[in-house]
Amino acid sequence: MDSMTFVLFGATGDLAKRKIYPALFNLFLDQKMPQSFSIIGLGRRELSDGAFQTNVEHSLRTFSRRFIEDKAKLKEFIDAFRYSQLDVTDVEGYQELLNLVQRRERELNIPENRLFYLSVAPEFFDVIASNIKESGLGTTNGWKRLIIEKPFGHDMVSAQDLNQRLRKSFSEEEIYRIDHYLGKTMVQNLEALAFANPVLQSLWNNQHIANIQITASETVGVEDRAGYYDQAGAIRDMFQNHMLQMLMMTTMHLPKTTSAADIRNEKRKVMESLRPLQKEDVGSQVVRGQYSDGEMNHEPVVGYREEPGVDSSSFNDTFVAARLWIDNDFWRGVPFFIRTGKRMKEKSTRIVIEFKNPVKELYGSDQQTEPNLLIVNINPNEGISLQLNSKNPLKNGKIEPISIDFSTGAKDIPEAYELLIFDALRGDSTFFAHWNEVELSWKWVQPVLEAFEENTVPLHLYRSGSMGPDASDELLKEDGFYWWEYQ
Ligand code: BG6
Repeated sequence: MDSMTFVLFGATGDLAKRKIYPALFNLFLDQKMPQSFSIIGLGRRELSDGAFQTNVEHSLRTFSRRFIEDKAKLKEFIDAFRYSQLDVTDVEGYQELLNLVQRRERELNIPENRLFYLSVAPEFFDVIASNIKESGLGTTNGWKRLIIEKPFGHDMVSAQDLNQRLRKSFSEEEIYRIDHYLGKTMVQNLEALAFANPVLQSLWNNQHIANIQITASETVGVEDRAGYYDQAGAIRDMFQNHMLQMLMMTTMHLPKTTSAADIRNEKRKVMESLRPLQKEDVGSQVVRGQYSDGEMNHEPVVGYREEPGVDSSSFNDTFVAARLWIDNDFWRGVPFFIRTGKRMKEKSTRIVIEFKNPVKELYGSDQQTEPNLLIVNINPNEGISLQLNSKNPLKNGKIEPISIDFSTGAKDIPEAYELLIFDALRGDSTFFAHWNEVELSWKWVQPVLEAFEENTVPLHLYRSGSMGPDASDELLKEDGFYWWEYQ
């Protein structure tokens, strides 16, 4: 792996402390960092290198999944960090940054490979990218890469606008858009599951699949993010990115190779085949919900509108369920049900593939068989279950569903940020969102945003601690299905 400089904007922020430093540290422990590396943290406040290094060590002790008391090893890692104060809007300040980057490149004898990680509010993405270019930081003899986090735009037009601005300083191949769901091991595993198993591959189509359900339920409420969340809602916060990425990963067709280009090409094709939604149809295909008060873990909790910082008459969506159709030869006629929400009964992300059941009445109408299910548990317990029908010898041979379960069982698996940062360091963009995917996702979501904004669809309240509004169950009932909940 190439030696490089990791330039982190937002180095004193929450994401850096909780995710980025621990990820870099775990990569270092696993010998997955380059031979030589320099890490330059940037922030608004004044901080000495020593104080910054102490903060980094503190974040490792607090948030890393592993820690070591080997002082020499720890020092080797921490010594790579330097800090510089920067007002990201001030182009002059970037000169000083360039000097620091170059000085460290000389000291460590590393080539001009530079990775810029923008862990800052999205309104700064384009000014930083442009200042990197103007200052000469982006003019290197080696490679340069840009990592950005969601939200990528607020709607279709703002996303296009942002992309155009970024593209003035970085090419598409140099931009790594993090969607941390693509860093989850079981999301990355979907491709292998469908394509490395001929048994499943032959069933992965509309001949055999009745419907697919993708759920990401959370128990937390808005927390202290009302300022952002009340503008974003579940549709922008989860649906436009994480949920549609999981849909693409589940339904893409077998790529020619598993290269980033081929996989992203297949994902794009899925999005191009997604049946567009007309604004007037949003009400019949999408359910908008908002949590009211209720109980979580036997403790009473307030409704969304009573949360600190939330407008008491807010119509913001904290839950979205939708029915989607992919109009291509593989998936025509199969409904995809997707739902996500806060303050739901369980923290769980999972995909349920329900197979068609032509033998429902094989043993007569009083002994109907259950459909086969393939359940992919993404979070919190990574694993796979296959539900089959089998005779129970203890019940006179009654047909009952049995479950064949696999769970990784490992507590210590790499976190999403570890996998993603490692890929970015290697220049592998497979599990980053390509602009085509982002744009097509906004395109599908746009009429939903408008219908929500214009309030032309109902807002269903649901009790905190439930599985969302009844309207979300009704959506499936219309097609003769129901949500497969946790057993
Ligand atoms: C983030 C959203 O992208 O994903 C949060 O902004 C949400 O609102 C989080 O809580 C969920 O991620 P995970 O990995 O806990 O499922």
